[in-house]
Amino acid sequence: MKHLLKMSDLSGEEITEILNLADQLKYEHLNGIPHDHLKGKTLGMIFEKSSTRTRVSFESGMFQLGGYALFLSSNDLQIGRGEPIEDTARVLSRYLDAIMIRTFEQEKPEALAKYGSIPIINGLTDYSHPCQVLADLMTIREYKGYLKGLKLAYIGDGNNMANSLIVGAIKTGMSIAVACPNGWLPDAELIEWAHNNGTLTITENILEATKDADVVCTDVWTSMGQEGESEGRKRAFHDYQINDNVMAVAKDDAIVLHCLPAHREEEITAKVFEEHAKEIFDEAENRLHAQKAILVKLLAQK
Ligand code: CP
Ligand code: NVA
Repeated sequence: MKHLLKMSDLSGEEITEILNLADQLKYEHLNGIPHDHLKGKTLGMIFEKSSTRTRVSFESGMFQLGGYALFLSSNDLQIGRGEPIEDTARVLSRYLDAIMIRTFEQEKPEALAKYGSIPIINGLTDYSHPCQVLADLMTIREYKGYLKGLKLAYIGDGNNMANSLIVGAIKTGMSIAVACPNGWLPDAELIEWAHNNGTLTITENILEATKDADVVCTDVWTSMGQEGESEGRKRAFHDYQINDNVMAVAKDDAIVLHCLPAHREEEITAKVFEEHAKEIFDEAENRLHAQKAILVKLLAQK
């Protein structure tokens, strides 16, 4: 594994290795066992969008691993003034040991990987959010003990989270049902891949998607960068909400996940959110452990 550019870069075995390592790092962290595998290593973190979890989990994760993380806002970098990503990649490769980037276009992390010579991690693009989905899989395994054979339901926009959950679920042997309005589907190539490699249901019917689900997930109706579409999106996604009616058809012990930030009474009711806050904030915590596992996997032997 050289980079983490999108969820489909990972094989099922690599996902399991990362989850096992994340569990181990979590155990060591919670028990005060030193795990400074990345002494002397530096991570650059380029942000072209806001972040709470991704920034803080990577930054504190690098510190706990004995390394150092630099926050690089695109407003301050020369990228913000038009320096090409290809040049930035070649320069930063000479200072840093890895780069995490949060941006709009999937092409940007891909270009950093092509022109740079150090591992590149996608900290969210419009297409993919692999770091989040690894934390989600870790959380599901913690609650259920295993992944294979579980049913995951995703309600809402066919966005970066939907794309990455589809790949993560199929590669770990879960079935996935996506409920989203027509016209707001996940990536077409990923849908085709999923149909050929596992069990994916795409439906406009939320209750059909959620029926007997072990895990119920959602995400915001309006992602970062889409703020101008927010009124139209509120209308399109009005009925795509996790509420008591939806939870009534899921399994009795179903867990609810939300990558956060959440918009109560939009994609999830405040009631369901609070009833499942334990899982949702365990999921947020697991960003730290999953991020550390990704960093160790990419950097420890280099
Ligand atoms: N879930 C997630 O990526 O959170 P941030 O946007 O706060 O990083
Ligand atoms: N789909 C959301 C995820 C935020 C973590 C976004 O891209 O804004």
